[in-house]
Amino acid sequence: MAFRAHDEADVLRLANAMGTRTRPLPDTVGGTSVDLVDPSGIPVRVVAGTHELAALPSQSTHTFNFGDAQHRINAMQRPPREPAKVQRLGHVVLQATKYTEALNWYLDNLGMIVSDFLYFPGQRERGPTMSFIRCDRGTTPTDHHTLAIALGPQNRYVHSAYQVCDLDALAAGGQFLAEHGYQRSWGIGRHIQGKPTLRLLA
Ligand SMILES: [Fe+2]
Repeated sequence: MAFRAHDEADVLRLANAMGTRTRPLPDTVGGTSVDLVDPSGIPVRVVAGTHELAALPSQSTHTFNFGDAQHRINAMQRPPREPAKVQRLGHVVLQATKYTEALNWYLDNLGMIVSDFLYFPGQRERGPTMSFIRCDRGTTPTDHHTLAIALGPQNRYVHSAYQVCDLDALAAGGQFLAEHGYQRSWGIGRHIQGKPTLRLLA
């Protein structure tokens, strides 16, 4: 997993603070990287100065009627049966055996901040067991969570989530993957913490 820092000076500052060095990324990518390892042994890369690429063509959103806002009158629309086109990475979820240590590493070293904590039912006094954390972008709105960390019996990657253009793209893309051997593990549904989601297993 790689995080984008504000600029290359920040990458250098982070490398110095962690007692390591930056390295240039390949010319095709551009910019600078520092490669770290979190307390759970998960590799974490922080980059800056990478080339900005033009966005790929996106799927078009559908036109919906909401309440009194009638935008589509007597016009049929059918979502195309096609793979969902990913717009961007939404978030990554990790499991950690030393949850608090892992959480604090991201807060202390990457300046991330907590959006929400979860607790085991009936055991709130024992402290949180899952956190949804985001990049601190000040007053600039950002995602509810870029990274989530949950207490668990293994240090491991759990899942990553990708943004697509709308709910129809999510449903049609999920159906496409189901026809190619993927199984639904959850959803389509709505997290309390976040957006409508469909989880798939290979
Ligand atoms: Fe998720």
